[in-house]
Amino acid sequence: MKTFQLSLSENGPQFNIVEQSQPALGAHDVLIDVQAWSLNYRDLAMLGGGYPGNDKIVKDPPLVPLSDCAGVVCAVGSDVTRVVVGDRVSPIFYQDWFDGNLTATNVGSTLGGGVDGVMSEFFSCSEESVVKLPDYLSFEEAATLPCAGVTAWEALSLGDIKPDQTVLLIGTGGVSIFALQLVVAQGAKAIVISSSDEKLAVATSMGASHTINYQATPDWHIEVLGLTKGVGVDHVIEVGGAGTYEKSCIATKLSGRVSLIGVLTGYPEQNPSPYLVMAKRLTLQGIAVGSRERFESLLQVMDEGHIHPVIDRHFGFDQLPMAMQYLSSAQHVGKVVLTK
Ligand SMILES: NC(=O)c1ccc[n+]([C@@H]2O[C@H](COP(=O)([O-])OP(=O)(O)OC[C@H]3O[C@@H](n4cnc5c(N)ncnc54)[C@H](OP(=O)(O)O)[C@@H]3O)[C@@H](O)[C@H]2O)c1
Repeated sequence: MKTFQLSLSENGPQFNIVEQSQPALGAHDVLIDVQAWSLNYRDLAMLGGGYPGNDKIVKDPPLVPLSDCAGVVCAVGSDVTRVVVGDRVSPIFYQDWFDGNLTATNVGSTLGGGVDGVMSEFFSCSEESVVKLPDYLSFEEAATLPCAGVTAWEALSLGDIKPDQTVLLIGTGGVSIFALQLVVAQGAKAIVISSSDEKLAVATSMGASHTINYQATPDWHIEVLGLTKGVGVDHVIEVGGAGTYEKSCIATKLSGRVSLIGVLTGYPEQNPSPYLVMAKRLTLQGIAVGSRERFESLLQVMDEGHIHPVIDRHFGFDQLPMAMQYLSSAQHVGKVVLTK
């Protein structure tokens, strides 16, 4: 089977396709014939050495990249009971996080970061570390869910999303577009900010209540306050990091929630003042994707609403470097997918 390996050298990151034999299965393992993969911003971070705790690329190279895929179970170990050959499945992002809280036991099991990922023609894992996919989703669509989809749903679920809420979404990448679909599906309002009027037009067509171009309106947080009659939003899906975090807190209502998710503009250090968080009685909620249980609840909500993930562009398996380059150019809306 063909497998991608990523290593870092003095000349920069290097991708190699290697030929490997299919993994031997343990009694509780399943083998997945992978049909599609998707990219996340996090996969770009691996090219620079990864994140703390997500740095196999540095500690034990090479790394099989990517966390997200979908495929068909093509073989099972002797004691497998959760799935059968022929089931359509996706591996979960944290291979050992099934339900409850993230703990020291399951935190290191992140595909394509803490451990080898899924960018291979076949992928094997424990039967516990997959979810079954609803029939209405194509493999390409399902492959977009394990990281970005689950993250958006984890944040909105912890924020107890309700129809009377207004949620602020930063940009139009994978996490934010999933959040937009899920907010709209719950009957709540979404305000979207983006660098591009064309992308904002897509967000409006998907049901965004208001949009703001943050290039044209650098004080977008003030405009958000204006749009909410000076009150602020209930919840921010904060994927921006250093450059947006303080503005997001200012744009949030008293006793509101900011889900801290991303670092697109770098890691926040000092701002906002802890006093602002205290004075506004904000809940800052750290998000780390989500458990298998959250993934299953996302699939249920998507199935009920017949929600199809937004795929911006397809690439072939061998075109991973080109697909990564496209993702880094940030031209996309939603997700970038690779197919077999
Ligand atoms: N904590 C977690 O569990 C978790 C899970 C998933 C992702 N993340 C993080 O969340 C972030 C987003 O991930 P993703 O996969 O959704 O990324 P992505 O698909 O690559 O989305 C990137 C988009 O973000 C927007 N953006 C870039 N710079 C911005 C800025 N200065 N201000 C506002 N928006 C900006 C751009 O959209 P526009 O052109 O529309 O502005 C860009 O296209 C990343 O930092 C990722 O590491 C964290």
